Amino acid sequence: MAATAVVLAAALGGGLLLIARRVWLAAGKAKRSVVAAAAWMEGKTVIITGANSGLGRATAAELLRRHARVIMACRDRDRAEEAARELRAELGLCSRGGGECRGELLVRELDLASLRSVRNFCQRVLQEEPRLDVLINNAGIFQCPYMKTEDGFEMQLGVNHLGHFLLTNLLLGLLKSSAPSRIVVVSSKLYKYGEINFDDLNSELSYNKSFAYSRSKLANILFTRELARRLDGTGVTVNVLHPGIVRTNLGRHIHIPLLAKPLFNLVSWAFFKTPLEGAQTSIYLASSPDIEGVSGKYFGDCKEEQVLPKAMDALVARKLWDISEVMVGLLK
Ligand SMILES: NC(=O)c1ccc[n+]([C@@H]2O[C@H](COP(=O)([O-])OP(=O)(O)OC[C@H]3O[C@@H](n4cnc5c(N)ncnc54)[C@H](OP(=O)(O)O)[C@@H]3O)[C@@H](O)[C@H]2O)c1
Ligand SMILES: *[C@@H]1O[C@H](CO)[C@@H](O)[C@H](O)[C@H]1NC(C)=O
Repeated sequence: MAATAVVLAAALGGGLLLIARRVWLAAGKAKRSVVAAAAWMEGKTVIITGANSGLGRATAAELLRRHARVIMACRDRDRAEEAARELRAELGLCSRGGGECRGELLVRELDLASLRSVRNFCQRVLQEEPRLDVLINNAGIFQCPYMKTEDGFEMQLGVNHLGHFLLTNLLLGLLKSSAPSRIVVVSSKLYKYGEINFDDLNSELSYNKSFAYSRSKLANILFTRELARRLDGTGVTVNVLHPGIVRTNLGRHIHIPLLAKPLFNLVSWAFFKTPLEGAQTSIYLASSPDIEGVSGKYFGDCKEEQVLPKAMDALVARKLWDISEVMVGLLK
């Protein structure tokens, strides 16, 4: 009897604590979105990779609210069209822009696990779009079993780094001619556990899914630093961010035992950010006048943060760039 009461009290107390934490998190995050809300995106074209889900979808919604023309670059046409329909309904957009409709949403196919698809996507964008103001490299895959991309790259490095590497390079001309323009790269704090092991970039000798994810996210930061150096003086800036821990579909490859699911859901509901909260730094870097001209920096919660020395190693960044160029066929 007493034991049951203790357990019940503990459960209740714990629950209340979680709710308090949730409310507190939401209140803190709301302040931040008010700060970022000042920037309008009228007349600006934004490409967001992986915009049908999670952070990408939330970022698309916010930039549409600020009247941007948003191109959702997604691998699955059906999932993307469905997300687009929902977004249009949610935001009261018409399917074509102009007139009373401010903010325009387009869906284009982009599979980052295929260099051919990346090239086709870019070709179409270069044909159709007179300008590109913001490119958000957001799509990502997390701790999947060992898989290879169409071109034989380890999947996480292939999608998170190499696909975006080719994408960005093919769109650089348009970004430059639209300057001032911005590139935003979504990395993760887990970069800390990665290393760029040049001897086995395709994980053919050994595969560790956590390591491969961290490696790809470290590559995102090194890519940003090297690109910022190369873009100096062009009016195109590039910054990288970590969103925090966010409740999205990213964990699809992580197996949680059925019995542990309710607990996981409770904990994630209480402690993880919502996609809208997690997307704040992406939205900030894409739109805020505060960071006009800022380039090569790492951000979390809309503030600049320091990175470990391994993410600032200019030699590794240069070498990764050179090897990536060969891997994606930019240099033969
Ligand atoms: N959630 C977090 O806690 C967290 C923490 C740190 C960093 N991040 C980073 O945040 C970014 C967004 O992730 P999320 O949390 O929003 O996850 P998510 O809900 O799973 O969204 C990921 C998006 O990437 C797309 N994608 C995956 N493989 C692709 C490919 N081959 N080609 C094109 N698009 C592809 C997915 O498309 P489908 O829907 O078709 O699969 C989806 O639209 C990722 O770069 C991730 O590494 C997330
Ligand atoms: C896999 O990589 C992670 C992160 O780099 C590391 O902490 C872990 O020990 C590795 N696991 C194995 C089995 O090597």
